Amino acid sequence: MSIQWITERYEEIHSTQDALKDLAAKGAREGQIVIADMQTGGRGRHGREWISLAGNLYFSLLLRPDVNLQNVGQLGLVVGLALGRALVEMVDRPEDISLKWPNDILYGGEKCSGILIETDLNTQNQLDYVAVGIGINTKAAPEMAAVLDINNEMTMERVLHYIDQVYSSWCVGDFKDILKEWHEMAHPAGTQMSVKLGGETIAGAFDHVDEAGHLHVRLGDNTLRVVTAGDVYVTGD
Ligand code: BTN
Repeated sequence: MSIQWITERYEEIHSTQDALKDLAAKGAREGQIVIADMQTGGRGRHGREWISLAGNLYFSLLLRPDVNLQNVGQLGLVVGLALGRALVEMVDRPEDISLKWPNDILYGGEKCSGILIETDLNTQNQLDYVAVGIGINTKAAPEMAAVLDINNEMTMERVLHYIDQVYSSWCVGDFKDILKEWHEMAHPAGTQMSVKLGGETIAGAFDHVDEAGHLHVRLGDNTLRVVTAGDVYVTGD
């Protein structure tokens, strides 16, 4: 399988994610991309703002996987791994690229790229489409984030290449190997972390991410806490 990418490019847009979802609702097919040099209303996870500085990569792409709804939670790891593979090839210090649950890419321990996964269902309550929004700090970074200093066109080419590759494996049910490689690029087991879950924050050691894409954290009393959604802060080795 190979995705046929079709690109719609804007100098400035409110959010590539919103524009892509409009196209998806009108029947755009898998492989549709919306890319912009500038976003005035870039969105991150949990409705947060995604600061969109000039020069970086901002794009959204449309996937229409024929999978069970319960497996869609794996897609953040699928796309995260693809980005990890691509960025390792692009940056000066490939050993500094790592993945953080659920779908952040770090460079030297600071976030350099984020992924926003949004889904829509059809009238039969089956998956209609997945909008994957990606921001990469290729040229500039807000405070507390990392800049990669890499070429946009080459990065885009590598990212699409690896999304196609990893997504194609996932579509034929090869999530075990993807998850294994994801763990190899992520914080090792035992890494101390705090996890913000709505109103609650828990602290513990990273254990693993399971087949559903859920995070398992070992708490001080040695029990495992399963986290389906939250923000992870690595607090130590
Ligand atoms: C995150 O919170 O880490 C996800 C950030 C995703 C940002 C990208 S930039 C392109 C696309 N358009 C948006 O409005 N958001 C995503």
